[in-house]
Amino acid sequence: MVNTPVQVCVRTRPTAFFAQDVIVLDESKKSIEIKNKGRSGKQSGNVNYLETKKEDYSFKFDKTLHNVSQDTVFNECCYDITKSFLEGYNGTVMAYGQTGSGKTYTMIGAANNYKNRGLIPRAIQQVFAEMSNYPEKSFTLRVSYMEIYNEQLFDLLSDISDTQLAKAKNDAYDDNMVIMEDNKGTIMVRGLSCHIVNSEEEALSMLFEGETNRAICEHQLNKASTRSHCVFTMYLESRSRVESEGQTVQSKLNLVDLAGSERVSKTHSSGLVLTEAKYINKSLSFLEQVVIALGNPTREHIPYRQSKLTYFLKDSLGGNCKTLMIANVWGEEQHIEETIGTLKFATRMMRVSNEAMINVHMNPDALIKKYEKEIKELKQELSMHDQLRGINQANYDPYTEEQKVELRKEIRSYVNGEVEELEIKNIRRIKEIFVQFKTLLKEASSFTEPESIHSASNREKQQTAPASNFAGKIHEEKIHEENGVGEVESKTGFGFGEAKPNVDFQKKTKKATVLSAREERSTSAVVPDTERSKTASKIIMPRNDAFEEFKHTVGKQLSESIKENSASLKEKKSLFKNVTQRLNDIKADIDNLKTKIDKKQVENAHLGDDIVDEEEMLFFQSIKERKETYKQSFEERKMLKSEIDYLEKALETLRQSLVADFQAYYDERYMEEEDNRPTQSSRSSRYRGLDQEGKEDVLDEGEKFEKLQIERLQQEDPESLNYYLAYKKASKVKKSVNRRQ
Ligand SMILES: Nc1ncnc2c1ncn2[C@@H]1O[C@H](COP(=O)(O)OP(=O)(O)O)[C@@H](O)[C@H]1O
Ligand SMILES: [Mg+2]
Repeated sequence: MVNTPVQVCVRTRPTAFFAQDVIVLDESKKSIEIKNKGRSGKQSGNVNYLETKKEDYSFKFDKTLHNVSQDTVFNECCYDITKSFLEGYNGTVMAYGQTGSGKTYTMIGAANNYKNRGLIPRAIQQVFAEMSNYPEKSFTLRVSYMEIYNEQLFDLLSDISDTQLAKAKNDAYDDNMVIMEDNKGTIMVRGLSCHIVNSEEEALSMLFEGETNRAICEHQLNKASTRSHCVFTMYLESRSRVESEGQTVQSKLNLVDLAGSERVSKTHSSGLVLTEAKYINKSLSFLEQVVIALGNPTREHIPYRQSKLTYFLKDSLGGNCKTLMIANVWGEEQHIEETIGTLKFATRMMRVSNEAMINVHMNPDALIKKYEKEIKELKQELSMHDQLRGINQANYDPYTEEQKVELRKEIRSYVNGEVEELEIKNIRRIKEIFVQFKTLLKEASSFTEPESIHSASNREKQQTAPASNFAGKIHEEKIHEENGVGEVESKTGFGFGEAKPNVDFQKKTKKATVLSAREERSTSAVVPDTERSKTASKIIMPRNDAFEEFKHTVGKQLSESIKENSASLKEKKSLFKNVTQRLNDIKADIDNLKTKIDKKQVENAHLGDDIVDEEEMLFFQSIKERKETYKQSFEERKMLKSEIDYLEKALETLRQSLVADFQAYYDERYMEEEDNRPTQSSRSSRYRGLDQEGKEDVLDEGEKFEKLQIERLQQEDPESLNYYLAYKKASKVKKSVNRRQ
C-alpha cells in the first residue's frame, strides 16, 4: 500500500493577454502568486459573480505548466499514472476549471490534429505500447465512456436511441445504470457498457464514437457540454502466462473531463439553465465538500453519496487510487476571480490523501483449473515416486487387513459391473489387486466343490440329521501343499528357485515351477533373454551367492520374517492334519455306532417301535457326544484353515518383496557398478579377471556412446556430470520398472 496524496498540476491556457502583473508564475518553485490587492483591472460582467475580497494569494502546487505542449502535459501529468495502471494500480486524471479554460482540450485535445491530441488518446497509445513490452503477460483491456448530466448517467458507447433520448428529456429518466461499490471499495457502474479493445485503433474508435454520441445528445437534449462531466475509463486485466494462473491483476484508469466550475448566479438563470445550474453547482459543490472533508483528518464522515459525481469518484478521492487533478485556468485578468476559485479548490485537493495498491484478484475458476492441473501432476509424480521407491527400496508395507477388505469390496463392485474400472494408483496396488483377485477366485471355485468338508459342514448344521448322513472321510488335500513350504526350511531360509528334496514329486514340481517362474520373471525383467549373454560377463557375483549375502544383510529382516511365518504355517498345517484325522476318526465312530443301533433295532423289532433297550440307549448317548466333539473339531479346523490361508498370502507378499528387494540390491551392486567402479577389492580374482577381460568385448553401441558422452562432459562441463549420471541412473531404474510391469 502506497500513501499517495492527490497530485495537483495547474495548466494555464495560452493567451497573448496573460495577466503577468497579477498572476506570477514560478515554474521552478511550482508556485503561483496572485497580486490581487492593488489590482484595478475590470472584470468581465458576464462571468464574475463572485464577491471575492481583493486579497493577495500565494499557492504552491505539484506542477505548474504555462504555455506548454500537449506532449509535455502528458509526460508531466499522465505518463506515470498510466504506467502504474499497467502495473495494477487504479488511476484517475481529471481536469477541473472554468468553462473555456482548456479542460476538454487537455483531456481529448484537438480531434483533427494528431500533434495536439489530448491525454486520453496519448494514454491509450502508451497502454498499447507498454503491453507489448510484457510478452509474459496476457492482457484484456476494456473501455467505457460515460457522461453525468443533471444527475443522470449516459452511456456514450451504447446506441443512442430515440426512446432513450425521449426518456432522457424527462426528469424521471431511469438510466438503468447504477454506481456501485464492491466489497473492496472499488467503484463501478452497473449497466454501463464495457468494450474489449484489442488495438490502439479500436480503443480510439471508441473514444471518437463516444464523442459523436455526446454531440448528438447535446444537440437533441439541448444541453450544454460545459455542464456535464465525462469519464472515459480503461479497465485492464492482466495475468501471467507463466505462473499463478489463478491470479489476475485488475486496474482501472478514469480520465475525467469535469463540468465548468464557474459559479453561476441563480438570479441570472431560468428554465433549463436554472436546472443545469442547480445540478452543476450541486455536484461540484458536493465535490468541494468531499474534498474539504477529506482534507480534515478529524472528519469521520465523507459525504460521497450526495451526488453521482462524488460517489463515482469515491475510490479516486481518499481511496485505492493514484489521482491527479489538472486545474485549468485562464491567464487573462478578467477571469481572475474564477482562477482564484480554481486555485483555492486545487489547494484543498492537495490535502486529499489516497492509499494505492496493486489490485490482485484470485479467479476461482482459474484457481480450480490450476489446482486440478497441479493435483494431476502431483499424482503422476507420486506414482513415479512409488515406482522408483518400489524398486530402490522395495520395502513398501503390505496392505493391512482393513485395506484388503476395502480393496476386495472394490474388486467385487468391479466384477459385478457397479464400477467401470479399478483405479490404478501404483504398483503396490496393482500387486494387491492381483492377490485379492486370486483369493476371490479361490473362494469362488471352492463353492463349486461338491463333496468333502462343505457337504459335511452343511449337514452338521442340521443337529437332527442321522449320523449315517455324514460324508465320507475328510480328505487332506483341502490343505494344498502340506509340505510345500519346504523351501523356506532350507538353510538359506528361502530357496531361490530350489525345491526341498523331501517334497513329493507332484508338490515339488508345482512349487518349484511357481518359484522358478517368479525368479525367471524378475531376472528377465532386468536382463532380457536376448541380452543376457551380452551382459552376463558383467556379472561379478553369481546370483545365488549374492542372494545369500543379501539375506544376511539388507534383506535380513524380510528373510527372518519369512522364516517365522513359514514355521508358523508349518505348525498350523500340522495341527490341521491332526484335526482332520480326528474328524475322520469321529466320523468312523459315529458310523460304527449307527450300524450298531441299526442292528439293535432289527434285533428288538419284535418289542415294538417305542421300546429301546439300555445298550441301544448308550449308543444313542455316545452318538450325541461324538457329534458334539465333531462340531468342536470342525470349528477348530475351520479356524486353522483361515489362519493357513492368511499365512500363505502373507508369505507370498513377503517373498515378492524379497525378490524385488534382492533384484534392486543385485542390480545396484553387481550390475551398475560395472560402469562406475570397474574393480573392487572384495571381488575374487577369478571374477576380476573375467571383468577386465570381458569389458572391452561387451561394450555395445549404446555403452560406447555413453562412455564418450561422459568423457566429453568431463572435459567440457564437469559440473553437469553428476546431473548426467544421476539422470542416466534414474532412466535405468525407470526402464527396469517398466519391464517388470
Ligand atoms: N492549451 C491550449 N492550447 C491551445 N488551445 C487551447 C488550449 N486550451 C484551450 N484551448 C482552446 O480553447 C477553447 C476552449 O477550450 P476547451 O478545452 O473547450 O475548454 P473547456 O473544456 O474547459 O470548456 C477551445 O477552442 C480549445 O481549442
Ligand atoms: Mg469542455
